[in-house]
Amino acid sequence: MGGHLQLGLFLPSTSGGMIIADATPPQNKPTWQLNKNAVVAAEAGGFEFALSQVKWRGFGGPSGHWDSALESFTLMSALAAVTDRIRLYASVAVRTIHPAILAKMAATIDEVSGGRFGVNIVAGWNKFEYAQMGLWQDDNYFIDRYEYAAEYLTILQRLWSEPSVTFDGKHFQLQDCVSLPKPAQRLSIVCAGQSEGALDFVAREADYAFVGRLNDSPEQLRSVTKALRDRAAGRDRAVGAYSLLTVIADETADIALARKQSYIDRRDDVAIAEFLRASGKDINRADYAKLDPAVATFMSIPSIASSYAGVAAHLDALAEADLSGVCLSFPDFSTDVPIFIERILPLMKSRSHPM
Ligand SMILES: Cc1cc2nc3c(=O)[nH]c(=O)nc-3n(C[C@H](O)[C@H](O)[C@H](O)COP(=O)(O)O)c2cc1C
Repeated sequence: MGGHLQLGLFLPSTSGGMIIADATPPQNKPTWQLNKNAVVAAEAGGFEFALSQVKWRGFGGPSGHWDSALESFTLMSALAAVTDRIRLYASVAVRTIHPAILAKMAATIDEVSGGRFGVNIVAGWNKFEYAQMGLWQDDNYFIDRYEYAAEYLTILQRLWSEPSVTFDGKHFQLQDCVSLPKPAQRLSIVCAGQSEGALDFVAREADYAFVGRLNDSPEQLRSVTKALRDRAAGRDRAVGAYSLLTVIADETADIALARKQSYIDRRDDVAIAEFLRASGKDINRADYAKLDPAVATFMSIPSIASSYAGVAAHLDALAEADLSGVCLSFPDFSTDVPIFIERILPLMKSRSHPM
């Protein structure tokens, strides 16, 4: 095993990205220019996909972490128009927008992109994002959110493929509902849920899952990836596994580790406290209450701080762990993406290189 490892870009569409520190860098002001430059560079470097988050409320503090976030679908539509090959995923928070409207938004971006578009289904874990809009009915949603997401995705799939949809569900009712144009082909569906309900949802409905959290050793990822693939195989389906990784790379491992430590030293404790408060509401995140500050600084997402060769070797080990791909975030996309392409990519064995 261990084939070609797909590379994705976790776009800098939210302030601060994946590092909660009041420092520069992280330098991820979510501007159009930053996102465009990053995705154009990634496409030229051979990245296979880019994904932007959906976020409706951040965590405040001096860094204003995630307070500012470009809207995912409108951003990806614009990026579709300035790229040619890279696959683009927008994220939908299913509580916020009716599936019949989203079906057409997605079909539109599929048309703009020439068939390069997919959807990241976000059930929603941060109550405060939705409660502020009156879109959080009650806390039972923490338990049944993937049932809600499944109904939502069923409607999307049917609207994308059937002439007319009549649907009488627990959450949605549609009567002779039509949606044209249809996407050129079946849109790729990603879901990043990790809970039991989410894994079931992914095995039944999605094409790619994000696996791993807190612990991203290749052994651990191999075992969760296998469990996921087995679960899907039980339903005669195949699901690919991605993981999310923050990369801090430099000439030597010592320099990279010092950079990582500097973010931890300058972490934004106010924003971290709010991140943990929001996470603590979610019964699936009970373990977040006792997160080590160093882990919380990186939002509990795995990170690697190493030399260029060390990062390349780590990514090769992920390919050996049977991951389909890895989605990368960086402290400073404007400089780190070109450096990744120039210095790290050529060292990776799990990528095919031009002769
Ligand atoms: C790669 C990745 C992308 C995600 N994108 C979003 C997002 O755009 N918006 C959001 O609210 N949550 C996002 N999440 C959180 C997941 O949707 C999910 O809620 C989380 O992984 C916890 O899993 P659970 O919902 O099964 O408890 C993302 C997670 C990962 C790993």
